[in-house]
Amino acid sequence: MTEPALVVNNLEKTYAGESGRAGTHALAGVSLTVEKGDFFALLGPNGAGKTTLIGIVTGLVNKTGGKVSVHGVDIDTAPEKARTYIGVVPQNMNLDYFGKVSDIVVNQAGYYGIPRSVAIPRAERIFKDLGLYEKRNDQARMLSGGMMRRLMIARALIHEPQFLILDEPTAGVDVELRRSMWEYLTGLTKAGVTILLTTHYLEEAERLANKVAIINKGEIIVNGTMAEVLTMHDSLTSPGAGESGYRGGKLEEIFLQLTKEK
Ligand SMILES: Nc1ncnc2c1ncn2[C@@H]1O[C@H](COP(=O)(O)OP(=O)(O)OP(=O)(O)O)[C@@H](O)[C@H]1O
Ligand SMILES: [Mg+2]
Repeated sequence: MTEPALVVNNLEKTYAGESGRAGTHALAGVSLTVEKGDFFALLGPNGAGKTTLIGIVTGLVNKTGGKVSVHGVDIDTAPEKARTYIGVVPQNMNLDYFGKVSDIVVNQAGYYGIPRSVAIPRAERIFKDLGLYEKRNDQARMLSGGMMRRLMIARALIHEPQFLILDEPTAGVDVELRRSMWEYLTGLTKAGVTILLTTHYLEEAERLANKVAIINKGEIIVNGTMAEVLTMHDSLTSPGAGESGYRGGKLEEIFLQLTKEK
């Protein structure tokens, strides 16, 4: 058996509160497994704990408890090795706005010890794939919001990671570009890359992801294959709703039923 891309076991995170106030219990015993080759959608309402979980996996946030391993490597014992498997597209833009598009991506390769002679042609190929080639000599600040998202994806891919983690990669991206980004990501999974992403576009997740977990208030409330999760639909909503000429939307209804404030 090969090791899963990601194993998260009983993960706990409490952010410290300010001046004696109670902290936020952002993750309350989260466990999940992402198998290699999965297209895994991590869904949940605002504040559910998605970015916190990704922050812990990628080494940006300290966990309060639990275990995480990436390709079988424990993030506590070998954090740097664990990080070599991962490419990450963060939720918040963290680009050097005055840097040149091509430099941002090629310099990132340097952090992984990839020589410029390898990184430059690789970056050009990625720019062509992502429709950024014409912009490669511009400063990042001159890009539109959707192009900046693509630049963050290019930067995450430059060391050819086996495991790509994207936190709302299509937020604020127009419908056509969103479609092409999802297609691109699907192509990566076909080439053997594992993908874990968060999104609020549930119909796209329903169409493209093979695994899904829903997190709410720091707890996993649903976790399974997309097909398994979609079978919950009829028991949660009025039977037969939307059955004839089904065009998607079951996952969204399941999500709303399970995460609504009681
Ligand atoms: N640095 C921080 N300090 C204190 N509390 C934080 C911090 N980051 C997140 N939180 C809190 O932890 C909880 C989970 O936040 P998180 O950002 O993980 O949610 P999310 O699922 O990514 O939400 P969204 O869909 O809005 O991105 C929230 O209550 C949030 O206010
Ligand atoms: Mg988030």
